[in-house]
Amino acid sequence: MNILIANDHGAVALKQAIQNALEQEGHTVTNLGVDTEESVDYPDIAHKAATTFLKGGYDFGIVCCGSGIGISIAANKHKGIRCAQVFDLYTAAMCKKHNNANFLAFGGRIQYPVPVIDMIHAYMEAQFEGGRHERRVSKLNDLCSNSN
Ligand code: RB5
Repeated sequence: MNILIANDHGAVALKQAIQNALEQEGHTVTNLGVDTEESVDYPDIAHKAATTFLKGGYDFGIVCCGSGIGISIAANKHKGIRCAQVFDLYTAAMCKKHNNANFLAFGGRIQYPVPVIDMIHAYMEAQFEGGRHERRVSKLNDLCSNSN
């Protein structure tokens, strides 16, 4: 798969671990995040990730900040981005099955109950169920007024 990843200074180690794991599995990972602890602003990182993703060519995106909260809020400001801040295997699978999420968000300062890579696998292995969820996802898009 072709995966985009981006992070602020609060999730450098997490981003690197995710990127390494996915690349070892044979995926192509484009890193739009930072690799130092120098402070940056997560809205800028999310905007770069979202606008790049929306140009096409990526299967999904992963965004990370300290808590996963700010960068997911910022990503979801972009029409066409459905960013899910997941925290276990259930939410990781459900965000694809029901919400057709195209971004996952994680926090570098969070202690998760399962490894982050396992949540990513649960997301990758799940399929969007369509049907009534198609209508709801379409309504999500309609709620977003900006075009980038
Ligand atoms: C940065 O210190 C921190 O606020 C950011 O990474 C994120 O957690 C915000 O939601």
